[in-house]
Amino acid sequence: MASAAPFNPPAADLPGKPFVPEWIPPPITQQKENFATLKSIDLSLLDSEDPKIVEDLIQQVKIAIRDDGFLFLENYGISLEQLHRQFAIAQYMYNNITEEDKERLLFSPDTGVWSGYKHPYGFKRHRGPPDGIEQFNWYKPDWEDVDNRVPKCLHPFMDEIEEFCNYLTKSVNRRLLTLFSRVLELPDDYLWDNVQSHGSPTGEGYFRHALFRPVQKETEEASKGLRMHGHTDFGLTTQLFSVPISCLQIWGRDEQWYYVPYKPGALVINIGDTLEIVSGGHFKATRHRVFKPPVDQLQSERLSLVLFNSSVGSLPMSPAWNSPLIQREGCIEEQGIFKEFKKLTSNGQIVPTNKQWREIQISTATDPTDQEHNRVGVHQVVVDGKVMHQREYMGMKVVLPV
Ligand SMILES: [Fe+2]
Repeated sequence: MASAAPFNPPAADLPGKPFVPEWIPPPITQQKENFATLKSIDLSLLDSEDPKIVEDLIQQVKIAIRDDGFLFLENYGISLEQLHRQFAIAQYMYNNITEEDKERLLFSPDTGVWSGYKHPYGFKRHRGPPDGIEQFNWYKPDWEDVDNRVPKCLHPFMDEIEEFCNYLTKSVNRRLLTLFSRVLELPDDYLWDNVQSHGSPTGEGYFRHALFRPVQKETEEASKGLRMHGHTDFGLTTQLFSVPISCLQIWGRDEQWYYVPYKPGALVINIGDTLEIVSGGHFKATRHRVFKPPVDQLQSERLSLVLFNSSVGSLPMSPAWNSPLIQREGCIEEQGIFKEFKKLTSNGQIVPTNKQWREIQISTATDPTDQEHNRVGVHQVVVDGKVMHQREYMGMKVVLPV
C-alpha cells in the first residue's frame, strides 16, 4: 500500500489566533495494581512492502479484537506535539468559555444527540446532582454553523480542530477499517464504503472535548466511585487518546475491572455495538466504564479527547453476510449484543437501525448518582450472585457489569 501521509495541520501561529498556553500532562499514578495489559498495533506496518509483515499485522488485530475488543494504536500519523496542541486547545476552551455560551449551547440529550455543551450536573438538560463532567460535542450541524453552535473562544482554532477530526476519520479510521475489513476477508474499503457514515469531519458521529473535575464526597458516595456506567459504545469504532489520569477501565475475561494504562500518544480503540453485529459477533464490543482514579490522582483534573465514529444511520443493524469469514465459520452468538440481535431476528422481529440504536441510548441515559434507577428491580438485576446493570432498548436487552 502507498504510505499514508502524516497529519499536517494548519499553523498554530496564524494572524488572529490568540496565544494558547501549553497543556502539561499531569503526573502518572504510582499505583501498579489493577492495570490491564493491552495489545498495541503499529498502524504504519499496514504500509509495509513486505506481505508477511502485513499478514502478521492482520493476525495481531484479529486476536486483539477477539480477545479484548480493545487495542492501542500507535504510529498512526499524529505526533505527540501535534496531539498536545489539541489538548491545549481543549484546555483553553474550558478556561475561556463564557457563561453565556454555556447557556446558549446547552445540550439536549432528550433528542438523542449529545451536540453542544454539557454542564457538570448529569446527563440531562436540566441540572441534577453534580457529576463534575463537562463536555463539548461536535456533530455535523455544529461543523456547518460554527458561529451559532460553537463556543466563541474556539472560533479562531476551528481550522485546526476540523483538520484534526478529518485526519482521525479519513486517514486513521479508514486505515483501521481496512484492517478490520481484511480480518473479515472483505475488500479493503468494504467497511469504509458501506458502513462508516460520511458527510462531515465526523460523519454522523461526533467529536468530544471532555473534562472530569474531582468530585465532592457526596457525589462519590452516591455513585460508589463511578463517573460513567459500564457500557459498550453504540457506534462503529471509538478513538480515545490515552491520558495520564487513569479513570478508564475495561472488563477483563476474569470478570474484573482493570484500568487502561497510559501510553503517551497512543490511541485507545473501542469496538462499538454496530461493529460487533456487522462482524457477526467475531469482534467483541468493548465493555468499559469511567471510574475514580487511583488515590494519588483523586484531586487531578482529567482532560480527554474522543472521536466517536458512527455507521450510516439508516442501515438496519445486520452482519456483513458476504464476509468469507462469516460464511466459513458462521456467527459467534455467545456475545452480548449480537446474541440479542440474533434472538430478535430469529423471531422475525424488526431490529433497530444504527441511528435508532444510538439515539435511544443517549435519550434514556442515566447518571451513576441516580438513586431512583440504580437499584435491583429497576435498572439492576442479580445474575449468578452478581449485581448487573440491565436496560432494554427496542426489544434488545443490554446487561453489563456494574
Ligand atoms: Fe464509551
